[in-house]
Amino acid sequence: MTVHFIGAGPGAPDLITLRGRDLIARCPVCLHAGSLVPAALLDHCPPGARIVNTAPLTLDEIIATISEAHDAGHDIARLHSGDLSIWSAMGEQVRRLKALGIPYTVTPGVPSFAAAAAALEAELTLPEIGQSLILTRTAGRASSMPPGESLTAFGATGATLAIHLSIHNLAGVVADLIPHYGGACPVAIVWRASWPDQQIVRATLATVEGAAADGPERTALILIGPVLDNADFAESSLYAPGYDRRFRPSSADSPFVGKP
Ligand SMILES: C[S@@+](CC[C@H](N)C(=O)[O-])C[C@H]1O[C@@H](n2cnc3c(N)ncnc32)[C@H](O)[C@@H]1O
Repeated sequence: MTVHFIGAGPGAPDLITLRGRDLIARCPVCLHAGSLVPAALLDHCPPGARIVNTAPLTLDEIIATISEAHDAGHDIARLHSGDLSIWSAMGEQVRRLKALGIPYTVTPGVPSFAAAAAALEAELTLPEIGQSLILTRTAGRASSMPPGESLTAFGATGATLAIHLSIHNLAGVVADLIPHYGGACPVAIVWRASWPDQQIVRATLATVEGAAADGPERTALILIGPVLDNADFAESSLYAPGYDRRFRPSSADSPFVGKP
């Protein structure tokens, strides 16, 4: 049978794809990655489904649970928070499934950085201000950072940063980045974006530690960069009246006239 990896989205139960919801509804077994996956999503499971919280399990135990369901002929919905492409631990499960010959599919989800940007009503790429977004984290107890992937290296680019898994290390983030972005650089922290208890703090690199002192110590996105507080950006050429483009030739002489 098949394991369906499904991005469960950032928290609000309606921020899952229709494909993800329909797969959950079809699978008699559902494995979910604990408290970051909203419990309301499990309501889509069919009646009598076996529902397993994998937060307290080891990888070996998770794979044993999957193998058991597979041997019994059951499809499995495997839910991870946000999207599967970042910090989901999907990679190591897929490697084991390949070795065991168990088929799987992957259905993307809304990542938490997108939910945080939505909460801030922010476009994270603005013409001439910021055109790159770096999704990163700082080292944790269980995860070191590969050489070269330091905040100071990323800070040297001046790109917008979306820093995950690091709210407990806010002081280190600030110390690493002030030399690159300056104390006046805008910062926004969004805790539990899209959940009912979502919180937002807007500050600068110089003030954010004080501003966030009372915030929770988990499940937050730290966003840093000039795009977060900049009304003085250029409009994109794409919609400028004189810009010649395939979908809106600017004159009868345009090379785009008559192009499909
Ligand atoms: C294990 S990672 C999972 C990331 C997830 N796969 C994604 O697509 O965003 C958990 C981290 O993602 C961030 N995160 C996840 N959900 C969040 C939310 N609703 N609001 C803010 N940050 C969130 C936090 O930095 C948290 O520590």
